[in-house]
Amino acid sequence: MAARDADDGRLSDEELLANLILLLVAGFETTTDLLGNGLAILLDRPDLTAALRSGRITTAAFVEEALRYESPVQLTTREARIDGLLVEDVPVPPAAT
Ligand code: HEM
Repeated sequence: MAARDADDGRLSDEELLANLILLLVAGFETTTDLLGNGLAILLDRPDLTAALRSGRITTAAFVEEALRYESPVQLTTREARIDGLLVEDVPVPPAAT
């Protein structure tokens, strides 16, 4: 917001909005989905809940495994932004996804 308000051309209204949308989708939905998926796993697996409560499984390990087992980001897309891009020697044309 400060960069946009500085009025020195660093960040336009459109760029600010694009960044806010990115942060909402990338930062908020991933986190809430991970919390929901983690809760669903624990409700489904009382043995894991007990292990977590007793400390046999650490919270960090559980979060890592929840990210792998029931990831909030199960697929994503990429778009080639340059000419002449090669992935493992396979040419990827510009704008290909
Ligand atoms: C459980 C939480 C999160 C998960 C599972 C997650 C997952 C991901 C994944 C898979 C990517 C794509 C990486 C790639 O293209 O190689 C990504 C990118 C990104 N994430 Fe997260 N993320 C999480 C939390 C957050 C939070 C809290 C923020 C910011 C507040 C954030 C901001 C971003 C941004 C800005 C990118 C794009 C980076 C780039 O393209 O340069 N993420 N995230």
